[in-house]
Amino acid sequence: NHTIALIQSNVPVQKKKLNGTVGFHFLPNQVHRKSIKKGFQFSIMIVGESGLGKSTLINTLFNAPIAPTRESPKEATNTDSSKAVEINSFTSDIEENGVKLKLTVIDTPGFGDFINNAEAHKPILRSIEERYEHYLEQESRVARKNMVDSRIHACIYFIAPTGHSLKQLDVVFMKELGAKVNLIPVIAKSDLLTDAETKAFKERILEDIKANHIQIYYPAVHDNDDPETVQEIKEIASRIPFAVIGSNQTYEHPPGSGKHIRGRKYPWGLIQVDNEAHCDFIKLRQMLIRSHMEELKEQTLEVLYENHRSQKLVEGFGSPTKNPAKFEEEKRAHETKMAKMESEMKLMFQQKILAEEKKLKQAEEGMYARHREMKNQLEQQRLDLEERKKRLLGGNSASSFNNRGGTPTQKKVVGVAAAG
Ligand code: GTP
Repeated sequence: NHTIALIQSNVPVQKKKLNGTVGFHFLPNQVHRKSIKKGFQFSIMIVGESGLGKSTLINTLFNAPIAPTRESPKEATNTDSSKAVEINSFTSDIEENGVKLKLTVIDTPGFGDFINNAEAHKPILRSIEERYEHYLEQESRVARKNMVDSRIHACIYFIAPTGHSLKQLDVVFMKELGAKVNLIPVIAKSDLLTDAETKAFKERILEDIKANHIQIYYPAVHDNDDPETVQEIKEIASRIPFAVIGSNQTYEHPPGSGKHIRGRKYPWGLIQVDNEAHCDFIKLRQMLIRSHMEELKEQTLEVLYENHRSQKLVEGFGSPTKNPAKFEEEKRAHETKMAKMESEMKLMFQQKILAEEKKLKQAEEGMYARHREMKNQLEQQRLDLEERKKRLLGGNSASSFNNRGGTPTQKKVVGVAAAG
């Protein structure tokens, strides 16, 4: 297969002009129809300290009560952060203009709720890896029908609106998360910051991201994108990290107009969710749902999952130079396993031989018994014949002696011939 692939990749590709319509320009329609029928699937993880508005933002994004919100945040009492971070997932079937979307939201309530949060990110990272592992395990099965894909396509990371810079916990976690998922940083509850504070905060976050080599998701511009799309993508990218406001409450705005707007009301006015001058919610929704959902999925499957897969393959084959201690340990475990398998096989082989020998012995004994029986039968027949012969000879000799007066020896010969 490898040789064929190599040969094929060396075949020069020539551009050809069609002489007439063939019909493959309908391919996008076919894909469209199939996708409509099958529906789409998307999984988002929401991460950030408790009470930052994670559930509210998801409900605002999809304009539906998808994730339960909590009005009063939990008290920080638990100390063991590695165990108590919950991972909840909610799956909803939603539909818009006949297009179905199976949306899974993976919520991580409890993150940052602890006195010591140093380990809080571990269960979350483990959950992401387990999802890749689960898929990898299904891929390596012989029967690969009905595979369940629980891989996460995007992770919205909520940064507290402190106005300073990223916290140490954010830096550590974002660095690890960014290597595994499409990381989308957002400034939570940005209505609590002024425009100037938001601008300065964004700059500092971007500096921290760059200085700490944190990998975040940026929508990519492609060669065949038209200028309008390129402009749109650039505008979206310029808003990262998105300063967001979540609210599912609507207010009549302007009062008396009959027009209802989502937002958060303050004594000085209404901060609107769906207003680009007030926050970046629209740009986040545009990227996440309207323009880049498929690209986020592709990036997950083709880059992040592939990285995980190749890393697992390398680990699987092991390399003595990379980690000698681990390699030795794995080698020993492998040898023990092999030795165990060998002794099990030997035992099985011996048992089989014994069983075969037993069978042969039984067959041999049967043959001997039959042989003995036949021998006895023949012996019996011989004795019977002897008996008859004696009887015949005895009878004949008596009568010929009496009737003709010949010698008994002559008569015996005649008697044997008659008996035979
Ligand atoms: P946990 O489930 O505890 O992790 O909380 P969460 O992050 O999901 O927060 P949730 O959406 O439950 O919201 C917590 C509180 O913050 C609620 O009182 C919300 O009304 C409020 N809230 C949500 N979004 C915003 C926002 O953008 N601005 C402000 N000011 N408050 C918000």
